[in-house]
Amino acid sequence: MTESYRVFVTRVLPGDGFAELRQDPAFDLDVWPVDFPPTREELLKHVGGVDGLVCLITDTIDAAVLDAAGEQLKVVSQMAVGVDNVDVAACTARGIPVGNTPGVLTETTADMAWALMLASARRVVEAAEYVKAGQWQTWTPTQMAGVDVFGSTLGIIGFGAIGQAIARRAQGFGMRVLCWNRTPRPDEAAAVGAEQRGFDEVLAEADFVCVSTALTADTTHLIDARAFELMKPGAILVNTARGPIVDEAALVHALRAGQIGGAGLDVTAVEPLPMDSPLLAMDNVVVVPHIGSASLATRSKMADMAVANLRAGLAGEPLPHAVSTAVGSK
Ligand code: DGY
Repeated sequence: MTESYRVFVTRVLPGDGFAELRQDPAFDLDVWPVDFPPTREELLKHVGGVDGLVCLITDTIDAAVLDAAGEQLKVVSQMAVGVDNVDVAACTARGIPVGNTPGVLTETTADMAWALMLASARRVVEAAEYVKAGQWQTWTPTQMAGVDVFGSTLGIIGFGAIGQAIARRAQGFGMRVLCWNRTPRPDEAAAVGAEQRGFDEVLAEADFVCVSTALTADTTHLIDARAFELMKPGAILVNTARGPIVDEAALVHALRAGQIGGAGLDVTAVEPLPMDSPLLAMDNVVVVPHIGSASLATRSKMADMAVANLRAGLAGEPLPHAVSTAVGSK
């Protein structure tokens, strides 16, 4: 009888791929049953002896976890496009391919950037809370007046697939779009009617600054005190990428000092955002709980991709979507 593959899945996943995996006798699945991630101790315990690991952005997969798993670990499959929680170099050094889920969440995440942009500009959350609190007494000329999105200037920091998708939507809003990417992308910019500019110029000219870059050592605190000083006084910052790209203390200072007009954040430096964060007391800040890719359809596709990467890695085949190139070396 053939041995089944032992796999630890750090949460119950949506989608058909996962449902099929659960029924497949070729896999001996250990599925973390609750929504809270396994603690460090639990993670180290559950990875022991597994052939495959399916993880989420809330799980830190570092050298200690790989060591705890053991030499038979053949694949780390993350259900997300970002893999800053995974020590990819440590995986590669051990010949373990790392999979992720690019592409399928691009449009869904761009929708969220726009939701935050519109909500922040037009004070949607603040206004809805005002109604619910029974404060809607009358109509006044300036009640809940915000700023126009239509006809304004959008600045996009990081011009990968999601940045480009954000830019495409701006055409319908008659916006001028400026973009910055570490490696210039003139063709991609031209294709969506965006203008490539220097980092400082984008910040200085944009009414809305959308952060859409991967979190790396280079992009940590890319948006810092200096960046806020460059921004227009009424500008709105939107971040759907990763919290640590923005220096949150500098953001709080910029908002308090009126250096910028507001912020729409899908991600924060620490997640969940601590309830004593000054950001939560500010009417001009909208914070949502890292739901950029959270449409049911997209999350199911992401899970299906994670399962496909797992299956390929266990079979010693190239992963359909690999972050690292340590493919099939086990
Ligand atoms: C990702 O995929 O990196 C998102 O942050 C979670 O969907």
